[in-house]
Amino acid sequence: MSKSVVWRASVLHFLADPSQQSSYGEAWEFFEDGALLIEDGHIKNCGPSDQVMNNLPSGTEIKNLPGKLLVPGFIDTHVHYPQLEVLAGCGVQLLDWLNQYTFPAEKKFSDPEYASEVARFFLDQCISHGTTTALVFGTVAPQSVDAFFSEAHQRNLRMIAGKVMMDRNAPDYLLDTPENSYKDSKALINRWHDKGRLSYAVTPRFAPTSSSEQLKLAGQLLREHDGLYLHTHLSENPKEIDWVQELFPDSKHYVDVYDQHGLLGPRSVFAHSVHLCDHSWQRMGSSGSSIAYCPGSNLFLGSGLFNLNKAKAHGIPTGLGTDVGGGTSLCLLNTMKDAYQVSQLREETISPLQAFYLATLGGARALHLEDKIGSFRKGNEADFLVLNPAATPMLEFRTKTTKTLEELLGVLMVMGDDRVIEKTIIMGQEA
Ligand code: GUN
Ligand code: ZN
Repeated sequence: MSKSVVWRASVLHFLADPSQQSSYGEAWEFFEDGALLIEDGHIKNCGPSDQVMNNLPSGTEIKNLPGKLLVPGFIDTHVHYPQLEVLAGCGVQLLDWLNQYTFPAEKKFSDPEYASEVARFFLDQCISHGTTTALVFGTVAPQSVDAFFSEAHQRNLRMIAGKVMMDRNAPDYLLDTPENSYKDSKALINRWHDKGRLSYAVTPRFAPTSSSEQLKLAGQLLREHDGLYLHTHLSENPKEIDWVQELFPDSKHYVDVYDQHGLLGPRSVFAHSVHLCDHSWQRMGSSGSSIAYCPGSNLFLGSGLFNLNKAKAHGIPTGLGTDVGGGTSLCLLNTMKDAYQVSQLREETISPLQAFYLATLGGARALHLEDKIGSFRKGNEADFLVLNPAATPMLEFRTKTTKTLEELLGVLMVMGDDRVIEKTIIMGQEA
């Protein structure tokens, strides 16, 4: 017989974007005394504890967690696992940052042992920070992606990753060729795509480091295999944008470069998208493309303030990305705080509820995974977090006086960090 476990605590999850559907019950469900019933690693029931507890299959194990809050696992829609060691590299903006910090660090990942060691550390840190799914850049070395997927598979994590395609405008030691990038990506797709909970993302780094020929082959890969993602950077920094216009003089704008190569679409995720013209916004929306909003990185690298309202107005699925190492933390709570602060500067203040939506269901939608993760919908995979609102003396003191859910979520995202993540549960199992 399958084993069932019920977790009793406060429970919060989202059904829709709370900035669009503002009433309780439509956009989110919160059960102060709630329960989550898990069977075979999937969500079997979620609701008020009296309702769920009255309906338990015989032999269900009961876990009582008074004072704790259960939420779906956080989703990081854009992160570079090989960049952990360049975190907090100060003093420069994007293009100099890449040359000074990032490229030399990525060189080391041609060594499979080093790649495995960092992949293990990265995934352990994801789990301790409450990130249960991420869309991840490897490096140009295929072994960096083998190492990552192998570690993710052992942990039964739902992860998406890909090998960087990059055939120009970077140091020789990091360059591939259009043909090799195609062949290496294809071999990785055959080895890992759809294996367990893993998916592959075709990953041209960004327009300046790929020739037109390489971008065409990226598009060809997308057409040759079902269910692949496209993962790249878009319109992050003004100097980068000018450079793209010089390199692709026949394109209308940055989005058009990717469009001309068949790279827009419902499983295409564009990190940053900070500086877009109206036509670009429209094309992103009409193509069904997604955006990874990376507020921490956009602030740290001085890239700009993302316009979340434009993304919403154009119906563009948007999740949060830490963009480590351009971003400074793997913590989605910190990233929510950054998104909140950016929204204040833009005078378009988001609510804590909206921030938690972006880190959970919003991310799942941006990755087209809402039928699997991101909420406690029945049948979903049971990736969730036990949050401790009193994890530190300061939090314990402050949360004693919070009166509403909204206020509590605000305190957690502004004052919280990985200490708030008491447990991370993967497919019903404690990680
Ligand atoms: N654009 C191209 N490569 C990168 C990268 O590694 N990080 C960020 N933030 N932007 C990029
Ligand atoms: Zn990035």
